[in-house]
Amino acid sequence: MEIRIERRKDLKDKPDQNQLEFGKYFTDHMFLMDWTTEKGWHDARIVPYGALPTDPATMVLHYAQETFEGLKAYRDPQGNVQLFRPEMNAQRMINSNRRLCMAELPVDMFVEAVEAIVKYDEEWIPTLPETSLYIRPFMYAAQPGVGVHPANHYIFCIILSPVGNYYPEGVNPVKIWVEDEYVRAVKGGTGFTKCGGNYAASIAAQVKAEEHGYTQVLWLDGVHRKYVEEVGTMNVMFKIDGKIITAPLEGSVLPGVTRDSIITLLKDFGYEVEERLLSIDELMDAAKNGKLEEAFGTGTAAVISPIGELCYKGEEVIINDFKTGELTQKLYDTLTGIQWGKVEDKFNWVHKVK
Ligand code: COI
Repeated sequence: MEIRIERRKDLKDKPDQNQLEFGKYFTDHMFLMDWTTEKGWHDARIVPYGALPTDPATMVLHYAQETFEGLKAYRDPQGNVQLFRPEMNAQRMINSNRRLCMAELPVDMFVEAVEAIVKYDEEWIPTLPETSLYIRPFMYAAQPGVGVHPANHYIFCIILSPVGNYYPEGVNPVKIWVEDEYVRAVKGGTGFTKCGGNYAASIAAQVKAEEHGYTQVLWLDGVHRKYVEEVGTMNVMFKIDGKIITAPLEGSVLPGVTRDSIITLLKDFGYEVEERLLSIDELMDAAKNGKLEEAFGTGTAAVISPIGELCYKGEEVIINDFKTGELTQKLYDTLTGIQWGKVEDKFNWVHKVK
């Protein structure tokens, strides 16, 4: 792929690595590429980070044809830059775009674009523990027009943000609100895709959870409001009686890259992992009977996030004395160890940026 480069003249000051938060600062440049029905993918370019053209009739503003991804770049102890399983993000974006009738970007072009922009702005990769460069590829319908149909023009963009922890709690346990009024997804819908619309529809429940003093929402299935699916920004796993249980991928749950990696690590550690329906009643009973040993979320932004409390219909249960569980900590250490190049990458997940 030929990439045209336009360098920014006034490079920005980099933020203090101790004060990064999540998604607040953006690097000097961004990657852009257009797709049209006539030309397919063309005009790949790295340009100064800045505003995108937005005709008021741009179709994404009206019908939300938009998908995105999230991955991170890390610096290993030797100073090399590495990505974590970027091909999985590329393939998931293809799956999302197929569902939303959007142009598909081949895996090799996606990965090449990510590598190019990360390499170009690599000085922005933070080095302090628990920091990384968050990579946000996204695509949207750029054709101006009012009418619901696939667009004839899409823009693929990648922006980069040096980040710290996603939650203000850091890697400490979070409190989760079990939502029994709003739903996130149903089979046949877009639950398995990473599209902005899924997140727009989740905000009302998120606001409600925060009003009650909770960090995130645990979604129940959209038909019965009974089976545990995922948490706002992460997949979720429960250790009950020594086994790990997580929701199956049957169309309404996001197929997380971290979820997949953690299942592999758990099996490698010798745990039995059940991808099956888990009702909220079974979960609450396990918590009350002392069988719910640990609970944690998995996601690129959230990494591994221990869950210390659940609240369902006004009933609160505390998990593992609101402490990070031993297994949760081991998973966090192993996963981030691989990502930061400090633990052997025996599954070949690391993708070196040359
Ligand atoms: C991610 O984990 O990368 C996400 O996209 C979750 C969230 C920030 C929307």
